[in-house]
Amino acid sequence: MSESPVNPDSHSTPVSRPFAQPQLHLIDNPHEADADVLVTGIYLDQPLSPTLAVIDKVSDGSVGRLVKQGKVSAKRGDTFLIPGPGTKSDGGGPHLVMILGLGDRLTNESSTISNRSLAFDSAATALRGLPKGSVSGVNVALAECFEEDVHDMIVAGAISALEGQAIYQTGSDATSPEAIGFSGLVESALQQGQSLGQSINHTKRLVNEPPSILFPESFAERARVIADEVGLGIEVWDEKRLEAEGCRAILAVGAGSSRPPRLVILKHNGGGDEPPVAIVGKGVTFDSGGLSIKPSEGMLTMKMDMAGAATVVGVMHALAKLDVKRNVIGVCGLAENMISGSSYKLGDVIETRSGKTIEIHNTDAEGRVVLADTLDVAIGHLPVAMLDLATLTGACMVALGKEVAGLMTNDQSLCDAVSNAARIEGEPVWQLPMFELYDDKIKSKVADIKNVGEARWGGAITAAKFLQQFVGDVPWVHTDIAGPAFADSPLPARDAGATGVMVRTLIRWIQSMS
Ligand code: BES
Ligand code: MN
Ligand code: ZN
Repeated sequence: MSESPVNPDSHSTPVSRPFAQPQLHLIDNPHEADADVLVTGIYLDQPLSPTLAVIDKVSDGSVGRLVKQGKVSAKRGDTFLIPGPGTKSDGGGPHLVMILGLGDRLTNESSTISNRSLAFDSAATALRGLPKGSVSGVNVALAECFEEDVHDMIVAGAISALEGQAIYQTGSDATSPEAIGFSGLVESALQQGQSLGQSINHTKRLVNEPPSILFPESFAERARVIADEVGLGIEVWDEKRLEAEGCRAILAVGAGSSRPPRLVILKHNGGGDEPPVAIVGKGVTFDSGGLSIKPSEGMLTMKMDMAGAATVVGVMHALAKLDVKRNVIGVCGLAENMISGSSYKLGDVIETRSGKTIEIHNTDAEGRVVLADTLDVAIGHLPVAMLDLATLTGACMVALGKEVAGLMTNDQSLCDAVSNAARIEGEPVWQLPMFELYDDKIKSKVADIKNVGEARWGGAITAAKFLQQFVGDVPWVHTDIAGPAFADSPLPARDAGATGVMVRTLIRWIQSMS
């Protein structure tokens, strides 16, 4: 008998919990509909919402009293539970009412909060704040607190609240409702919100999976399952195809791993024979740093180094579900950056797929090396515009902090369109300059360019300058999501771990293009 091939990760075969899939439906008269919990909202210094006003009336003014006494706060994100009409023996209705503080009514939206993000976060905060135990039916009466153009976010936020990082916890702690009813919105908002929420959750799940479960091949398999489910086209390049295509940069980064690299091309055809938009993702399924090894603390979260690629998958999923009338291709460059006798080395020179040569000065600057070939594959599809997403540099986090994505571009109007979409979605982004003076910093004495800049200075920008070498004259925006893709600590509206950031912004941006 021949020996079966060694599974390098045979120590790790747990299966993560399935997605929560509550049944979603529309309801009328939320104060009367049966539910374990009814969620409502309250703004600072504003009259009670219609639903809360009715509840106040049937409870002999108790809501008004609690507000006056300062027990119910309208402070954004605060929640308060009161007994609902359903506790009275005679009738139906919710057993508990959750009153959620919405803060000041947003008149001018800023770069960090918009009505869409407030609706999303409010619904998510409510669902995450449900009393632990058996809450099987929840009704959400938040639509009456918002304009119609943000109603989809109430549904998306509620769905996204159900997906966190505790996907391997065996306890029964993780209760999620079997059914969620929404009042005051229309069927299309329900459908759209559900699709967006599911897309964000796909992204988060891919990022939260541990590296022994999610590696280039298994990422590609999961992308295929998702693509088949929603009717996206998919092509997966294995290591032989990568070789044949001249993707030596992707192969170099993956060379130290027993898990071979992959490249995934997803296709959404909603725009007839028009040229496509391309979105490109860094998919380093684990970044040890390679021979330029990371310290242990820095390595701990490096399963998240494929968040760019996971965002591409989430966005492509949404485009198909929402039937967006555009042609879009999503390209994911997938490799594991590891240490072994076959690792790529410092001083190596790689001829990339484009023909440009790169000299490796630091094997931990691997994302840009993977993206060199990935971007080249994408521009081969002659896109009218291209955007890449990558957890590319610690320097971007130093510049902008953990919450803000960095944008760098060769086309100001394209970048403005992305910023504008981000502002409407309330996902903070900030542009960094791409002055020509930075080009000198990545010159190599041996090859065309080297894969790091000079010392640490301007590290987010020199990384973007490296990428720019591989986009030709295609209008392009680079999005460094090293900070916001993965959170160290939870917020009321989301768990720690993967955040699914930029899925909403990208869908809005693609929908806004004409
Ligand atoms: N994946 C990292 C960037 C990163 C760091 C993402 C922390 C999220 C959190 C990337 O591959 C990397 O290691 N970049 C180096 C570049 C340097 C060697 C020029 C960095 O930022 O230190
Ligand atoms: Mn690295
Ligand atoms: Zn990396």
